[in-house]
Amino acid sequence: MKTNYKRNLVTCALPYANGPIHIGHLAGVYVPADIYVRYLRMRGRETLFVCGSDEHGVPITIKARQEGCSPQDIVDKYHDIIKKSFADFGIKFDIYSRTSSKIHHKTASEFFRKLYDEGKFVVRESEQYYDEEAKCFLADRYIVGTCSKCGAEGAYGDQCEKCGSTLSPDELINPQSAISGSQPVKKMTKHWYLPLDQYEPWLKEWILEGHKEWKSNVYGQCKSWLDGGLQPRAVSRDLDWGVPVPVEGVEGKVLYVWFDAPIGYISNTKELLPDEWEKWWKSDQTRLVHFIGKDNIVFHCIVFPSMLKAYGDGYILPDNVPANEFLNLEGDKISTSQNWAVWLHEYLVEFPGQQDVLRYALCANAPETKDNDFTWKEFQTRNNSELVAIFGNFVNRAVVLTHKYFKGEVPANAKPEQVDEETLSQIPEIRKAIEDNIENFKFREALKEAMNLARLGNKYLADTEPWKVAKSDLDRTASILNVSLQICANLAIAFAPFLPFSVEKLNHILNVAALDSALTWDDLGSSDLFPAGHKLNKAELLFAKIEDAQVEAQIAKLNATKIANEIATAEQSDQEDPAIAPAKAECTFDDFQAMDIRTATVLEAERVPKTDKLLKLTIDTGLDKRTIVSGIAEYYTPEEMVGKQICILANLQPRKIRGIESQGMILMAQQEDGKMRIISPEEKLINGACIG
Ligand code: MF3
Ligand code: ZN
Repeated sequence: MKTNYKRNLVTCALPYANGPIHIGHLAGVYVPADIYVRYLRMRGRETLFVCGSDEHGVPITIKARQEGCSPQDIVDKYHDIIKKSFADFGIKFDIYSRTSSKIHHKTASEFFRKLYDEGKFVVRESEQYYDEEAKCFLADRYIVGTCSKCGAEGAYGDQCEKCGSTLSPDELINPQSAISGSQPVKKMTKHWYLPLDQYEPWLKEWILEGHKEWKSNVYGQCKSWLDGGLQPRAVSRDLDWGVPVPVEGVEGKVLYVWFDAPIGYISNTKELLPDEWEKWWKSDQTRLVHFIGKDNIVFHCIVFPSMLKAYGDGYILPDNVPANEFLNLEGDKISTSQNWAVWLHEYLVEFPGQQDVLRYALCANAPETKDNDFTWKEFQTRNNSELVAIFGNFVNRAVVLTHKYFKGEVPANAKPEQVDEETLSQIPEIRKAIEDNIENFKFREALKEAMNLARLGNKYLADTEPWKVAKSDLDRTASILNVSLQICANLAIAFAPFLPFSVEKLNHILNVAALDSALTWDDLGSSDLFPAGHKLNKAELLFAKIEDAQVEAQIAKLNATKIANEIATAEQSDQEDPAIAPAKAECTFDDFQAMDIRTATVLEAERVPKTDKLLKLTIDTGLDKRTIVSGIAEYYTPEEMVGKQICILANLQPRKIRGIESQGMILMAQQEDGKMRIISPEEKLINGACIG
C-alpha cells in the first residue's frame, strides 16, 4: 500500500440528472467526501474534487417520455437543481459538470474507440426484445410484465419493485412494451462486451491481495463478485440517448451509461484543467479516491478499473473506494417515485440557513457500516442537545463572559492553574483521534471527537465557574476565559471540515480575520492562538433550537405522503382486483331514504334443515320480533350468532325461503377470499336505531 502521494484526486458518484438530491445522497456520498476534501486542504495537501451530473441512461428517457419532453430538457432541469443544492450545502467541488457536454462525448467516444481498435472488446449477437410498433429495441426498463418470483403485476425487465428481485426480461411473464403496450418480439442485435472474465486474475490480485485495507463492506462485495466469477459485460445499448457508439455504419446504439459515466470523472477534469489533467489521472503521485453508495461498488471497483487497465496509457486506479450503505427515512427505504425523501431544496425552505444542522445530523448518523435510519426526532435531538447545548452553549458563554468582564478583549493568562493544563493537554489527543478517523473514512467517529472538544470546554467552564470567581478574583477569571477562548479557536479548526457555515460564523465572532495568520489544521492543539488583547466581535448564537412544532410538521408531511401513497396503491389494486365489485349506478337521496336500515339483536338461531347455507334467525328489531332467513351458515355457526348485534334492511319485501317467511335482510360484506362477514356496531347500540 503506497502512502506517500503528492496529491489527491477525490471524486463523488455522478448523480443521475432525473430528480433532485435528497438526504440519502448527502449522507452516503457528498457530505463525507466534502469533509474529507476540506480536511485534506486544511492540511495543505493538494486536492482536486470532481463531480458532475450523470445525464444518460434509460430512466432519463422514461421520465422524458412521461413528461412529454426531451431527455435534454429533463437533464437541463435537474442538472441545475442538483448543482444548486450542492452549492447551497457547501459541497465545494472544483468542478461540477455534466455528461451531456461536448468534451465528455468526445472523451468517452475516444475511450471506447481505442479499446475497440485494439480489440479489447468481444462482439456478441443476441436476441433482445424489440417493439415492432415503436420500431425500437427495448431496454430492460421498458419491458413490463408479471414478476415470475412474486406474481406482482407491473414488474420491470430489470427489477420487480414489489419483491425487490433483480430480474431479466426473460423472467417476466407476459412481457409488454412500456412504450406502445404491444407484445415485444425477439430480434437479433449486436453488442460490444468488455470481457471482465479476462481481468479476473488481475482484479483478484489487485483487490483481494492489494487492498485489504478497503472498508469491509466494499472488500466483501468485491470478494463475492470475484468469487462468483466474472462474465463479459455489454458496454453498448440499443437506445437513442447517450454517447453514440463510434463505429462506422452503426446506428441507434449508444455506450452503456455505466461505460460512459465514470469516464465523466476524466472529462470533467479535462474541462477544468485542459493542460494539466493528465497530471491528475496519469501520475503515480496521484491518489485517486472514489466516494460512492453501495449500489455503485461493482462499477467502481471492478468495471471501471478494468476499463482503465484495458486502456493502459498510464491511467491510475483508485487507491480507495469508501462506499457507504444506505440511509432510510423514518423506517422506510428512501424512494424517489414514492416521494419518500427529504429533498434538499425543500429542507432549505423550511430550515433556512440551517445547512450545517443537516450536515451534522447526517454525518453523526452516516450509514458507514450498515444501513441507518434518519428520523426527524433524532435530527432535533442532535441539534438541540448537541449543537445548541454543547457546542453553541460553550462558545456563547466564553464570548459573553469575555465581553462582560474584559470588554470583549482576550484577557492575559494571568493566573494559570493545573486544571488549565490538564484541559488543554487533551486537545492534541483529540486532534490525533480526528485525524486517524478521517484518514480511515470514519467520519462519524471523527465528528464525535470534535464534539468531545466542545464537551471538554463545557466541562472546564462548569468546573472553574468563572462567573463566580469573577466576584473575588479577576486575574483567575482572566485565565479561565483565556483558556476557554483558546478552546473556541481550536473548535473553529476542528469543526471546519464538518460545519463550514457555522465555523465561518464562529470565525467572525472570534474575529479570526484580525489575527496575523489564518488558523490552519496545524494550529489545532495549540493553546496560544489568541494573543492577549485580541478583540472579539459580539456574541451571536451559532445554532438555534429546533422546536417540536417544526419537526412535527415534517413528520406530518411524511405521513401525508404515506397516506397519499396508500390511497394510490389501494386505487390501483381496486382496479386490478376482481373481488372488489365495480361501483354501482348513482342513486337519489330519496332512494336511500326509502330504505329502512336499523340495528337489531339475534335472539335465536338454528340451521334450516337440509340446507348447508341457511340459518333461521329470530331477531329483536326494536319494533318487533321477527324471522329472517339468511345465507350465512357457511360463515357463522348458530351459537356464534346468538346475542350478536347486527344491521338489517327492515323493509325489504318479505319472501318465502324453504317455506319460511323471511322478513328482512342482514347486512354483510364480502371479503377478498369471498367470505361474508356481518356488520356489527362497534359498541352496543339500542335495537331499532335507524342507520343513515
Ligand atoms: N449515476 C449513478 C448513480 O446515481 C452513479 C454514476 S457514478 C459514475 O447511481 F462513476 F458512473 F459516474
Ligand atoms: Zn416480484
